[in-house]
Amino acid sequence: MNKFYLKNYVAFIKLCNQVRMAHPDNHYFMTDRILKIAHRGYSEKYPENTIPAFIKAIEFGADMIEFDIHLSRDGRIVVIHDDSIDRTSNGTGMVKDFTLNELREYDYSFNFGKGMIQIPTLEEVLELSAGKILLNIEIKNCPNNYAGIEKELVETLTKFDSIESAVISSFDHHSLLRMKGINRNIKTGMLYDSLWIKFREEIRELDVYSLHPGIDSAYTSELKWASDAGYKIYPWVAKSRKDMDLLAGTGWVHGIMVNDLRLFRQ
Ligand code: G3P
Ligand code: CA
Repeated sequence: MNKFYLKNYVAFIKLCNQVRMAHPDNHYFMTDRILKIAHRGYSEKYPENTIPAFIKAIEFGADMIEFDIHLSRDGRIVVIHDDSIDRTSNGTGMVKDFTLNELREYDYSFNFGKGMIQIPTLEEVLELSAGKILLNIEIKNCPNNYAGIEKELVETLTKFDSIESAVISSFDHHSLLRMKGINRNIKTGMLYDSLWIKFREEIRELDVYSLHPGIDSAYTSELKWASDAGYKIYPWVAKSRKDMDLLAGTGWVHGIMVNDLRLFRQ
């Protein structure tokens, strides 16, 4: 290759990379089929939001894991659904009132009887999942307002080179705005469980990547509009084959969250 062609070839490759990186629908999320999303990990068979539940989701062949985050008293992002540890551990109290070390003293295997399982940090989940599976990280920001959780989340995702493979969702839409303010390339997903009047306006204003309706809100024609406009639709949570068929039949669903991944094989 002579110098002229080499120079142009390099410029062409650079341009291709720029186009790919600039496109919000980058290669990590490019797929025509419906994504298999493991809600709280493989939570039907393993304790929700724990390392075993995430490992088993990856082993099963899920495309994405969904999980929930809170802040401990000493500012560490921990993975747990509720704002208290009462339901899923052998302890009691609010997550925000414990340091990480204190949270670690309890067993989060709750009614699965799989031995002592500690609460995972976000870092631990990223250590095992980065580069292997897509992530849907839900910021649990209500009723507690975890000041600084968005910044901490972006820093941790950056450290694990996981910005591109993550979509950050929340029922707290202010939190989604803050995420975009910190890093406008981050993908955000709007969580909701019933429609409101200015639905389309808010979607545009927040510049979200995806919509995450509760399953009962997944059949409205507003979602056809959203899908046609390029937004991804990830409803939660299908619990039967009938749910799966109905969601797939809409033609506008891009991923389905389930607790029981076997629903994707039936
Ligand atoms: O992200 C979808 C779904 O997980 C939202 O509800 O209560 O299961 O966190 P919840
Ligand atoms: Ca969740």
